[in-house]
Amino acid sequence: MKAISNPTANGSSRSESRPLEDNLEKRIRPRKRFISRRSFLGKTIALGAGTVGAGLLTSIRTAEASGGLSPGDAALLRFPAALELLEADFWIQYNELGGIQDDEVPGGSGNPDYSEALEVIEDEMGDYIHDNTDDEITHHQFLNAYLVSKGAAPANLDAFRTLMGSTATGVNPDLIGHRLTNLTQLTVDTSWWTRYRDDRHNPDLDPNFVFKQAVPTLGVNQHTAIPRTDADTSDPNFLQAIANTAAFHFPTIEQGGNSLYPSLAQRATNVEVLRILISIGPTETMHFQTWSDVAGNAPPLTAVDPVTGVRVRFPDLEVENELFDKALIMPEPCPFLDRSLPIVSIIRPTNTEGVAMGALQFLTNMGLFIGQSNAFFAYMTQLAQDAAMGALQFLTNMGLFIGQSNAFFAYMTQLAQDADAAERECD
Ligand SMILES: [Fe+2]
Ligand SMILES: [Fe+2]
Repeated sequence: MKAISNPTANGSSRSESRPLEDNLEKRIRPRKRFISRRSFLGKTIALGAGTVGAGLLTSIRTAEASGGLSPGDAALLRFPAALELLEADFWIQYNELGGIQDDEVPGGSGNPDYSEALEVIEDEMGDYIHDNTDDEITHHQFLNAYLVSKGAAPANLDAFRTLMGSTATGVNPDLIGHRLTNLTQLTVDTSWWTRYRDDRHNPDLDPNFVFKQAVPTLGVNQHTAIPRTDADTSDPNFLQAIANTAAFHFPTIEQGGNSLYPSLAQRATNVEVLRILISIGPTETMHFQTWSDVAGNAPPLTAVDPVTGVRVRFPDLEVENELFDKALIMPEPCPFLDRSLPIVSIIRPTNTEGVAMGALQFLTNMGLFIGQSNAFFAYMTQLAQDAAMGALQFLTNMGLFIGQSNAFFAYMTQLAQDADAAERECD
């Protein structure tokens, strides 16, 4: 089992305005050497598959698994454990201000104005926020405890609890300056809204198709989903815009988990690891479904952030258009696997073919596949890599980590790449 070193956060490297995609790319770069070693191992085993046969592979797999989890299966749990720590961190911020504070989800005292704006969207918002927060806390606690029970390293992000967060009435004062995630500069991609209403396109089959956004202005610029200070609660219209932003951020993040778990589960070799992934994943789906229903009730409005000058417009989604109609919350059937098959109601995406091609090019340029005789194995390996890197990119693009240190990105990238290495180690 490869131990994960826990780098120290570097608070001095904070930057509020750097281009996120560039930054993630830069931070991934130092890990190339790591990918290269792992991929070389995979390549060697893959060549064995072509020449020696499946018997050898079975014995390799058995040997790896004999001490507990294979490194690959452990990585398939460690990466989501880290993501769940991040999920719990931002859900706790939401709960302190707009949820129910109790023994299950302690901390904070509630912000009455923000809570009221949230309840305009959904009466039971406080309970929903509380229960979603509770779920995420148990997700990372279980995943890490399971890893430890098998002698594997857990995910640990404690060194990165350095972000300021909100100082508005209701937050837990002990956690000001100790957050992992940033809810005040979000760019929220709401294209899932039409992706799940479109019966002709599936991102796995149409990687270049652009699904329309439910709230286009949230997909550009930076928006806060919580009151940053008490000043943000003074204008009721802007405060409602903040609550609406949260209401769209909830399903946007949960649909990510909704796709991530089935994508990772396809790579598990241990039946119990598979069971864990396919048992947690559908709870993310339940979160997504609930929140996608709730978001449609966000009142239409236009507001301008008094601090940043950024404008946001929430459209009326009670429309006849089937791509936008807020009543159509069930996943519309769509093409799956092959267009010659009938359309079917499914989670999508669950593979990463479109993104994989970019990464395949990236690794090919690195020389990793020179002489590789098993193109299928190489392709599947890259699909596996992209599933995890794609999730990290998704969260980074959302702006959730604005202000985080370089060490944070390096650590998250390493966890993602370890998860990606699963197939190389097990096949
Ligand atoms: Fe979760
Ligand atoms: Fe979740």
